[in-house]
Amino acid sequence: MNVERGIGGLRELLAARRSTSIGLVPTMGALHEGHLSLLHAARDECDTVVMSLFVNPAQFADESDLDRYPHDEERDFELARDAGVDVVFAPSADEMYPPGFQTWVEVTELGSMLEGVHRPGHFRGVATIVLKLFAIVRPTALYFGQKDAQQVEVIRRLIRDFALDVELRVLPTVRDADGLALSSRNARLSRSERERALVLPRALATGDPEAARTLLESSNGLVVDYVERVDFDPPVLAGAVRVGSTRLIDNIVLEGDST
Ligand code: PAJ
Repeated sequence: MNVERGIGGLRELLAARRSTSIGLVPTMGALHEGHLSLLHAARDECDTVVMSLFVNPAQFADESDLDRYPHDEERDFELARDAGVDVVFAPSADEMYPPGFQTWVEVTELGSMLEGVHRPGHFRGVATIVLKLFAIVRPTALYFGQKDAQQVEVIRRLIRDFALDVELRVLPTVRDADGLALSSRNARLSRSERERALVLPRALATGDPEAARTLLESSNGLVVDYVERVDFDPPVLAGAVRVGSTRLIDNIVLEGDST
């Protein structure tokens, strides 16, 4: 497995692989089974698998959230190697946002609802970095998790609007045995916070926005940011709650399947 920090080096490395299929799995590291499911799908479906590992400052509205984001590069490299990744692209912030950087991509409507209300600028940061990664890697397929349903919808819109020549692959949400969707933020939950957080998947599992809202609002120690049925492709029941200082999002697919 190669680790590349620079855009130029990555391009050189990929030059010899241009005639093959290239799968790109964008991540911010702190890998868990959710990320690994994307890597395994990419490994099955593509000749070359590139994983990006970049904690994108532009998508964090809240500086303390960025500062608290878990980092363990060596562990992530190890997991990526085990998953059969060919190349990890792990650039610095300066490499991705060179001095003078001023070009942004905004998916206006989709980026300003739900998560966008609570995290202003978040999807601008996501869309910009994903487009930049796309321009650098030029993958034939992009891999995303249904866990972040709105992110998928924003990327689907970006691909359509800019006529990007790439296949979007969306993999189902991976959960712990107790039902909590895997997230690098789960590590911040104390035992009792985790117990409270479990109401989120249970509420969403009702499949009914009203029942879900009632359940969430009658639970102690939770602040509900939203719980709504949204007409994404596929439609989802999506929710976001705050437990202590940790914010969790989750969704369940209401019709069809998540792939
Ligand atoms: P990150 O949170 O590291 O997630 C990387 C990918 O893993 C995303 O596509 C996300 O939806 C997926 N993922 C996370 N938890 C999952 C779970 N429990 N089951 C299935 N997939 C899961 O999402 C980002 O990074 C960033 O916004 C990024 C796209 C890399 C842009 O910076």
